[in-house]
Amino acid sequence: NEIRVFCPATIANVSCGFDVLGLALDAVGDEMVVRKTTQKGIRITKLIGQDLPMETLHNVAGVAGLALLAQSDYEGGFDIEIYKKIKAGSGIGSSAASSTGAVWAMNALLGKPFSPLELVKFAMEGERLASGVAHADNVAPALFGGFTLVRSYQPLDVIKINTPKELYATVIHPQIEVKTSDSRRILKTTISLEDGIKQWGNVGGLIAGLFTEDYELIGRSLEDHIVEPIRSILIPGFDMVKQKAIESGALGCGISGSGPSVFALSKGIETAKKVAQAMTDVYDKIGIDYDIHVSKVN
Ligand code: HSE
Repeated sequence: NEIRVFCPATIANVSCGFDVLGLALDAVGDEMVVRKTTQKGIRITKLIGQDLPMETLHNVAGVAGLALLAQSDYEGGFDIEIYKKIKAGSGIGSSAASSTGAVWAMNALLGKPFSPLELVKFAMEGERLASGVAHADNVAPALFGGFTLVRSYQPLDVIKINTPKELYATVIHPQIEVKTSDSRRILKTTISLEDGIKQWGNVGGLIAGLFTEDYELIGRSLEDHIVEPIRSILIPGFDMVKQKAIESGALGCGISGSGPSVFALSKGIETAKKVAQAMTDVYDKIGIDYDIHVSKVN
């Protein structure tokens, strides 16, 4: 009647795949304890580690959970304890971790009546609450693991992509908060055909590289001609962090989700650690506090 789950941090967009590509980290995430109760509805009974609302309708886990309950014939409810390690507003899927953890655990406790795709839809309601847009590029990898592609939103079509064995992510979080809603508002709503051509070439290249485990191709494809040039202005030292990460051997480097975290992908943990050192050196020099994580993509 009770389950404890690990809720992974995720990197959305992965440079070229705005709102469609995402990956899960296996060493960074929250924990959650979900308990079946006879009382109807969802209650957040504990929220440790971050200052976030606990009222069910204002909490992403609460809202995602209610979306599941609305489709279920289960008469009771759930109590949820959330132990946050992911900082809200850091750009590594804090809200997605809570939304997916809740629906995954509830589904397990109910004997798995819902498919993974249905769980993505419920968790997207948490994203709608957090950012105003029900994007799925964080919740899909959090639920499926590894790399995922949201091929279509209407109808929702999520594809699990092969994750190369030696792929590691380095993520640095400069201690400033960037709200997803703000960093979406500054984007243009149209793109040029020229940029489109570059971008879908890279998306195709990245997917091919992931399936064939061709690290060079993955590296060549980690480019973003549409969102990064606009959003990087919000991130202190972005160009320097990116340059140093690439010089240290990273396959590619970009903005994690809506930022301000910056991610780099590397082949092998040793390179990923070297990249971490290079990224922290930049922020040490310009005097910005940060968190740094190295994790396998899984
Ligand atoms: N794709 C979303 C965005 C992810 O970049 O706005 C937000 O975490």
